[in-house]
This record gives sequence, structure tokens and C-alpha cells, in this order.
Amino acid sequence: MPTAPPGSPSLLAFPQPRTCPHQPPPGYDALRGQGPLAKVALYDGRDVWLVTGYAEARALLSDPRLSSDRTRPGFPVLAPRFRASVARKLPLIAQDPPVHDVHRRLLNPEFSLKHVRAMRPQVQEIVDRFIDRMLEKGPPSDLVADFAVPVTSLVVSRLLGVPVEDQSFFQDATSRLMRATEAGPSQQAGGELAAYLDRLVTRLRTEPGDGVLGRLASQEVEEGRLPHDELVQIALVLLVAGHETTASMIALGTIALLEHPERLAELRADPDVLPGVVEELLRLLAVTDLAGSRVAVEDIAIAGHTIRAGDGVLVSGTLANRDPDVHADPDVFDPKRAGRSHLTFGYGIHQCLGQNLARLELELAFRSLFTRIPTLRLTVPAAELPVRGTDTGTIQSADHLPVTW
Ligand code: HEM
Repeated sequence: MPTAPPGSPSLLAFPQPRTCPHQPPPGYDALRGQGPLAKVALYDGRDVWLVTGYAEARALLSDPRLSSDRTRPGFPVLAPRFRASVARKLPLIAQDPPVHDVHRRLLNPEFSLKHVRAMRPQVQEIVDRFIDRMLEKGPPSDLVADFAVPVTSLVVSRLLGVPVEDQSFFQDATSRLMRATEAGPSQQAGGELAAYLDRLVTRLRTEPGDGVLGRLASQEVEEGRLPHDELVQIALVLLVAGHETTASMIALGTIALLEHPERLAELRADPDVLPGVVEELLRLLAVTDLAGSRVAVEDIAIAGHTIRAGDGVLVSGTLANRDPDVHADPDVFDPKRAGRSHLTFGYGIHQCLGQNLARLELELAFRSLFTRIPTLRLTVPAAELPVRGTDTGTIQSADHLPVTW
């Protein structure tokens, strides 16, 4: 188990690496049963709070004394690449009210349940297109490169209004931005995408098309209510927040389902169980690992501890989702659990804007994959798949998923 860097000898290092791509890092076991809050050490030796209790996580994620502003001193930085300025000034996710709420209201229409339901045929068509290609090409296939990444990339770019001919650039630059382990390459890919989105927003101001960027460019930017550069940054956030998270859920969810053939059989027999399956996969996989990163702006007393102003606070979705006070047998995959008690989409004012869309993508992806390719299986045992290091942050994924049928 990795230990803390020098300077914090007694604290557990955070994040810890996974050994199996769809299970929590074994290193987190040391934190279970130790109360709802613990101190952990980041790669740079700083110690921060890690919140592992479900009730405390919800209380803190809705507490205005915690800030999401990544430029504030004391904000926890998880890996060197997050020091890049492009990662620190993101609208919505790295903003506090009142500016946060203004941006959120601007985006709400395209993310409403009604709008997302209307996207169902489009998303289904995208899912089917990539399954068709896999079937045409024949086995084996890399489910990440051939399905999870292109499906989620195309859905986000449809939502934004990115022209089809720019797809491959878009996908390549996004992937470089996500996988970079250092600030330099991350800044480079972020810069390329920002330059591209800058040109796109300029074009959409007069030729809006039917994506969210076109609506905001032709109305809010053209009429002077939203600065052009802010819309470019918003586009970048939607892209970063919506793409890799959902692709990881498809990849890791597929592995988890293949490892539970009895659940898979139930799903095939009765597709109505699918929403419960998706919810349980979201709870157990917690692909972002963290449900939120914050810095305290005032002292906060909670669960017998005092979080001091300036302290970094990380909320562990992985552990809060497995809080035994909320879920009996929390490590068991049980799609029939009552309620949606997980923090995989966060909580409070920053709760995931794209959760309706993500749920739709996951439902259609799993339904179509397992009904259209009923004999789908991994070509290597899940435990032998390479796992990501902690130098790209905490997003859990499989970079490749070799499958056959
Ligand atoms: C399974 C897939 C997804 C997961 C696990 C996920 C997870 C999260 C989490 C944990 C947060 C809260 C961060 C915080 O409080 O600091 C968040 C926020 C956000 N997500 Fe998602 N997300 C997913 C898919 C998407 C999609 C598809 C989109 C859009 C296309 C999206 C857009 C956003 C945005 C814009 C925010 C910031 C909201 C705000 O700060 O008000 N996400 N997401």
C-alpha cells in the first residue's frame, strides 16, 4: 500500500491506486470503520480532510462555508496536472454563487429531463451505429476505443453542436487532456481545445445550429449578456465533465455486469430492471471517486471535528456510497436496493448537471450491448486489466477493454 509522502508520516496517502479497475482501492480499507472524517496526505505532502460518512458528506456538500473556487489558497490539488491554470478556472464546477448560479441557469434547459428524453432516439442511433461497426468488423474489439469513448464523445458533441467533420480532432484532444499526467501536456491539449471552441463559438454566433452552444452564442453572447470567452470555458467544462465520466461508467459497468452473470440474466429477461441496475452500478463504481473537492472558508464543526478555514476537504463518493449506516451489505451488487442513495453525481448546488443525460446513455448502452451482442465477454480476466495510476487524478477507468463474442 503506498504510504504518505515525507512530512506526513502517519497519514494515509490519497488517492490510492486500484488493483482491480472496478473495485475501490484496497488502501481505502484502512479508512473504513474509522468514523465519518479522516485526515489524508496528498502527493505534495499537504494534509486534507477526507469525508467518508454519507450523512456528513451530504451536509458538507450543501454547506456554503465550503468553496469550490480552485484558485483559493488551500484548495486541494490531487496531481501535478491540476496545477495547470486551465484546470483551475473552470466555470460552474470551480465557481461559487452568485456567478455559479447564473451559469447554471443558462444551461438548465438542455439538461432538463424533458429535453434529455427527447434526445433518446439520437442517443440510441449513436449507440447502434458503434455496435453495428463492431459487428461488421467482427471480434475481438476494444470496447473502450470502439464503443465507450466514441459514443460518449459524439453525444457530448451533439449536445454542444460540434460539427461532425471536427469529431476526430475533438476526440483526440479530449483524450490527451484527460490522460495527461503533467501540467504541460494537459495545458497544451486544453489550449488546443479552447482555441477550437473559440472558433466554433464565433461561427455559432451567426449560424447557431441546434446545440446548446449555438443557442447561447446566438442569444446570450450576441446580445451582450455573456462574454464570448466565458462561453468557450463553459463548453470546455461540459466536455471535460461529460465525456470521460460516462465512458468510464460504460467500460467499468460492462466489466461489473459480466462478472455478475445472474444479474445480467435478470436484465436480459426483464429490461425494466435496467434503471435499478444503472443506479447500483453508479453507487458501486463511483467513477470519479470523489463526489467533490472543496476548501473551507470558515471554521466548521462536524462529527466531533473542527474543519478550519483554509483546510482542504475531499468527499469520498467511493466510501460514502458504501456507508453501512445507509446500505446493508454495502459491497454487494444488489440492483433491487430501495432509493437512489449514492453521491456519484455529487450533492448540493454543484450536483451533476448532466446526470439525466448520463443515465440515458448508460441505460441505452447496456441494453443495446447485452441484447445485440448476447455472447459478449472479456478476453482477459478483469483482475488482469491494467489499472490507472494516481497521477491522472481520481477518475477510475479501464484504458482498454478487450472483448469478444
Ligand atoms: C456517469 C457520468 C457522470 C458522473 C459520474 C458525473 C459526476 C459528477 C460529479 C460528482 C459532479 C459534482 C462535482 C462537484 O460537486 O464538485 C458533477 C458535476 C458536473 N457534471 Fe457530471 N458526471 C457525469 C456525467 C456528466 C455529463 C454527461 C455531463 C454533461 C454533458 C456532466 C456535466 C457536469 C457539470 C457541468 C458539472 C458541474 C455542475 C456544477 O458545478 O454546478 N456530467 N458531475
